Amino acid sequence: MTQPRPATPADGLFWITGASSGIGRAVAIEASRRGWRVVATARRGEDLVRLASDAEGPGAIIPAAADVTEPSGLADLVARIEAEHGPVVRAFLNAGLYLPVRAVPFEAEKFHRSFAVNLGGTVNGLAAVLPRMAARGFGQIAINASVAGYSGLPTSAAYGATKAGLINLAESLKFDCDNRGILIQIVNPGFVRTPATDVNPFPMPFLQPVERAAQRVLDGMARPGFEIAFPRRFAYLLKLLRLLPHSLYFPLVARATGWRDRVD
Ligand SMILES: NC(=O)c1ccc[n+]([C@@H]2O[C@H](COP(=O)([O-])OP(=O)(O)OC[C@H]3O[C@@H](n4cnc5c(N)ncnc54)[C@H](OP(=O)(O)O)[C@@H]3O)[C@@H](O)[C@H]2O)c1
Repeated sequence: MTQPRPATPADGLFWITGASSGIGRAVAIEASRRGWRVVATARRGEDLVRLASDAEGPGAIIPAAADVTEPSGLADLVARIEAEHGPVVRAFLNAGLYLPVRAVPFEAEKFHRSFAVNLGGTVNGLAAVLPRMAARGFGQIAINASVAGYSGLPTSAAYGATKAGLINLAESLKFDCDNRGILIQIVNPGFVRTPATDVNPFPMPFLQPVERAAQRVLDGMARPGFEIAFPRRFAYLLKLLRLLPHSLYFPLVARATGWRDRVD
């Protein structure tokens, strides 16, 4: 099995979804500093235009607004960008929603919305770039999942399910991508300070600034390893927890998160 190489700014464009805010925005700014020409996608077009004018690096940022839940819109966008500016050789499929849920009341709509954006939106992004990369025999795709995808956590039934799905999706695609010259990677961040996590009412262990997270993502994408997980201590701790038998896992996590006997 061959290991495809990471793309470089000399190869072509870097497409980032979810670039209007949080991790995607910070990765776009840092990538442009590192010399990449970035294509920035999200629904809020005016925020993308502001991002493009704020960027200071040697690479430019091209705003390209779209909703990731609309497959034909994303495919058209990538076709147009490639016709105007050249090949997309690197993608960070990052657009995502964080909607905490409880068992009671059971809000099916939040599950469906999470699945549509986090899973469906990523699949639409893959459909827009992966066939083009396969035809060229070269490319790099990183999918933003989360350490919350490792195993079940309180309030995470919708979000965690999408992230576990993305981890499995990327692992499964890797077998074919490796043989087609496409480097596929999974990004599993711990807590990062962004508008999505600002609403969390609980203390977030190992919380990181978004600029640091952007550096970790880009440093990881400059190497060929499959998983980009950070902060490492938090990721390893959660990986260890998932190895425990369920009879130990559930009481331990319930106690650590203050979830024992909670019925509010
Ligand atoms: N923050 C953390 O602690 C953390 C930890 C692990 C993983 N992550 C993952 O990191 C990714 C980014 O999260 P964040 O914390 O940076 O959140 P954020 O600041 O809320 O950013 C989310 C981004 O996704 C975009 N987005 C949402 N729905 C979209 C849609 N239908 N079409 C196109 N774009 C859409 C938003 O742009 P518009 O609203 O303009 O469309 C925004 O740019 C998510 O996948 C999240 O699960 C975050």
